[in-house]
Amino acid sequence: MQQTLFITGAGRRLGKVLAEFGLAQGHRVIAHYHSHCELDPHPNLICLQADLADPASVQRLANEVNALGPVDRFIHNASCFVPDNKADDLSVHFDRHFHVHVLAPALLVEAMPWAPHAAMTAISDIYADIPNQRFAVYCASKAALQNWSLSMAQRLAGKVRVNVIQPGPIQFLPEHDDAYRQKVLSQSLIPHELGYDAIVQACEYLHTSPAVTGTVMRVDGGRFVANRYDQTFLSL
Ligand SMILES: NC(=O)c1ccc[n+]([C@@H]2O[C@H](COP(=O)([O-])OP(=O)(O)OC[C@H]3O[C@@H](n4cnc5c(N)ncnc54)[C@H](OP(=O)(O)O)[C@@H]3O)[C@@H](O)[C@H]2O)c1
Repeated sequence: MQQTLFITGAGRRLGKVLAEFGLAQGHRVIAHYHSHCELDPHPNLICLQADLADPASVQRLANEVNALGPVDRFIHNASCFVPDNKADDLSVHFDRHFHVHVLAPALLVEAMPWAPHAAMTAISDIYADIPNQRFAVYCASKAALQNWSLSMAQRLAGKVRVNVIQPGPIQFLPEHDDAYRQKVLSQSLIPHELGYDAIVQACEYLHTSPAVTGTVMRVDGGRFVANRYDQTFLSL
């Protein structure tokens, strides 16, 4: 049966792959994007632009989604990943991360026209549970997303199942050099880039498993339980 998927940050990278997977399954996909959308046009695809760091823009997006009717699956994937030392202004840096990671899904969920038996998945990070002094604000805001999501699992129980995925190194960013990539992969039990499909599979499992809610699922190649003492970014 055709379902409606709403995915944030679906203009490129993982979000785009999740949207393409949903379309290939015959679902209707509402793809939120920020700066640009690399998805090819499709009859079942609706693309909506919003800056999730701006609450007014999020509210407009929430109204647009609401007008499109019931949502079966919501994936909050959008994310910003800025090291603290690149922040011009600490307040702006905090606001941007907490708005994109936590306030945006909170505003969206409040206005969401849930279909019966709906499911939500929040994409967090294994660094929600591991401090990282270079990315302290990113880590804190992903931890907040995770905790907020589990509260939503309680609040929406019986109506929406809510789960969290903690990816490990699924796809490096272009700015990550070879030394960084090798260091990160050497700290995993499965020492290669896991690829977007690992998260697509995990989302599919969580969305189609009626007994699963309030779960935090690591999809990290064993990075969390690898030798934690080596997991420092100080030397990178
Ligand atoms: N890649 C990895 O190895 C890895 C590891 C751990 C966790 N994760 C998590 O997995 C998810 C997907 O990873 P990814 O690497 O594909 O993410 P990404 O490319 O860093 O970001 C995902 C999307 O978020 C959007 N975004 C950023 N700022 C925004 C804003 N202010 N308003 C609206 N959208 C905004 C980006 O759009 P624009 O580019 O247009 O700004 C982008 O399309 C993220 O939640 C990430 O934290 C990824």
